[in-house]
Amino acid sequence: MNNIEVDFSKCYPYLKSEEILIFDNMTREIHNMMHNKNCIGSEYLGWLNLPSEFPKDEIKRIKNVAVNIKKHSDAFIIVGIGGSYLGARAVIEGLTHTFHNSLPKSERTAPKIYFAGNNISSTYLSEILDMVEHIDFSINVISKSGTTTEPAIAFRFLKDVLEKKYGKDGARERIFITTDKNKGAMRKLCDEEGYENFVIPDDIGGRYSVLTSVGLLPIAVAGIDIEELLKGAEDASVEYNNYNLEENSCYRYAIARHLLYMKGKFIEIMATYEPCMNYFGEWWKQLFGESLGKNHTGIFPATVNFSTDLHSMGQYIQEGLRIFFETTINIKETKRELVIFNDEKNIDELNFLEGKTIDYINKRAMEGTELAHNQGEVPNITITIPNLSPYYVGYMIYFFEKACSVCGYLIGVNPFDQQGVENYKSNMFALLGKPGYEDKKIELEMKLEEMNNENFSRCRCMSCKTNHRECSKRIW
Ligand code: PA5
Repeated sequence: MNNIEVDFSKCYPYLKSEEILIFDNMTREIHNMMHNKNCIGSEYLGWLNLPSEFPKDEIKRIKNVAVNIKKHSDAFIIVGIGGSYLGARAVIEGLTHTFHNSLPKSERTAPKIYFAGNNISSTYLSEILDMVEHIDFSINVISKSGTTTEPAIAFRFLKDVLEKKYGKDGARERIFITTDKNKGAMRKLCDEEGYENFVIPDDIGGRYSVLTSVGLLPIAVAGIDIEELLKGAEDASVEYNNYNLEENSCYRYAIARHLLYMKGKFIEIMATYEPCMNYFGEWWKQLFGESLGKNHTGIFPATVNFSTDLHSMGQYIQEGLRIFFETTINIKETKRELVIFNDEKNIDELNFLEGKTIDYINKRAMEGTELAHNQGEVPNITITIPNLSPYYVGYMIYFFEKACSVCGYLIGVNPFDQQGVENYKSNMFALLGKPGYEDKKIELEMKLEEMNNENFSRCRCMSCKTNHRECSKRIW
């Protein structure tokens, strides 16, 4: 089989394979623009040839640092948000033992792995701090801008604990920074404190950065073979460097989702059948959501993990609004296998499955679901990989990165910017009273007041004309 097989047969009759070929010329144009770097956003195409161009000495340095971290740390905390942690988490959770952190030390080949700085919950951070109190740990703070609030808050607290625990010099041995070459608060701090640091290339944005040191250092610390991961991505970059649609399943996937979108399928649900793939789904969701949700257009990416979510979202997918299509990730060979054994009493009535593997049952659940959804007007694209190994995960990462950027050009948006994310940030800074945001603060406070007055100025009980707040019969 090919490294990644993409099957559109269950898209029928909503999408016919010959329709995909209509995009032949357009795809060729997009391909040439991307590879000649003369498209909008071309300054962020550094990921395109990265797997083959990644400096060998940097791989060596990452591996050496990972070995040192493993020597002195029983826990490793990855501090970052969005593109600065989702890729690493996807790969680590996909490729390590599901209960890695709970295994006895003797059975672990890597420190326990935790994530911080990806929310603003004081409970979450306090509990991370509780946990590290009695454990030897190191941290990797990852922030391209070096100014993101969430990781900055987590870093302030974790650095404080490290310095109290190991002294300033000891803490320095346990703090690793991944950030911009020249700018941002993290860069300044690195230069002042002399932390070991890794550079995020200028031409690679957060959500395309998992195969840079952003992802590679944490992934290496987790004991995963980063060279195999890069090799998979490199082979994918060769396979998908081909504008011939019949030979390029990555481009066919991009076009298929575009066509389905044009036919009113506004939501793509990525369905996985392995819980360890949940974060791969999160990474994919960010990649497609942040890259393509612009100019009031773009498919909304959602994820489900089956069969778990068949018992919660299955009903809606089968019979709710018909605005979905589904993309299933099928992993041909499972990591671990269990066989159903005979039970004399057979009270659970499972003896008819005796001798069958659990993965066999999972695969039949997958086929049954795809057929049911197709019959329920949910077209299905199935993406099959041979197994979950660093090589194939690297391959899939590249597949989706390239497909996503092609999709951006198909709908006419720049797949590498994220202006919309700034809106919440500036509102938050203004409401927090950050210096420089004074005018915005006044504007927002007026807006809040206006919204409040609008909501309460009329009574909704319909039986009086009084102010809503004062109406004794008010209904909400
Ligand atoms: O993909 C992106 O660009 C974002 O998700 C960023 O990675 C995220 O906002 C974190 O930014 P930074 O790495 O600058 O802290």
